[in-house]
Amino acid sequence: MTTMNYWTDKWDLHVDICPCDVHVNDWIADQKIRNKLVYHFGTGTHHVVGKEQAENGSGNMVFGITASIEEYEAYIKMASGSSKIAKSYIAYFGDIYLTNGALLPDFDVVTMVHICEFFFPNTASKEYGGMDDRGVLDLFTKKTKPGGHILFYTKSIGFEKAKPIVAAWEKEAPVTRIGDFKTLAVYRKT
Ligand SMILES: C[S@@+](CC[C@H](N)C(=O)[O-])C[C@H]1O[C@@H](n2cnc3c(N)ncnc32)[C@H](O)[C@@H]1O
Repeated sequence: MTTMNYWTDKWDLHVDICPCDVHVNDWIADQKIRNKLVYHFGTGTHHVVGKEQAENGSGNMVFGITASIEEYEAYIKMASGSSKIAKSYIAYFGDIYLTNGALLPDFDVVTMVHICEFFFPNTASKEYGGMDDRGVLDLFTKKTKPGGHILFYTKSIGFEKAKPIVAAWEKEAPVTRIGDFKTLAVYRKT
């Protein structure tokens, strides 16, 4: 039996070190996005994307992945204490490299903010059954609705590794780079 590559750590909100989640919320507000479905890569213990969107009256709904047991436990605690959060925000425990597209709906906004940060050597092996970073990008591009947006975090510790992968993806996938917002690079699916 092969075990899942889960994250043995947890991440609290440190906006000075990693502002990407706050910038995702800022971008959503700046774009006046309402009543849309967001996929978020990496919830943190703080769950600030799902929480903010559930509580700010935007009507936006968030589906967030965490590979950390502590972060998932934090979600259970948060959702059990708030029907508003439980109604509009689902965090789930998993390895994004094992994503099964058949289990997910299509999204209006997809955040790929931690792409290339957590790839394990065995991830794309037959035994593990996962995919590489480009595979994740291609799958989530398919799961993005036409006209929807895909966001990257340009200050990610994985961004140097991500640059050539994103550059090749940008040429081959049905996407257009439409600009930057704070630390984020923003693409639209055509
Ligand atoms: C450095 S933390 C950042 C959390 C949050 N986005 C922030 O910026 O405050 C990285 C996040 O990626 C998640 N993560 C790590 N490996 C992952 C994987 N293989 N699949 C999905 N999420 C993963 C962790 O659970 C954690 O939420």
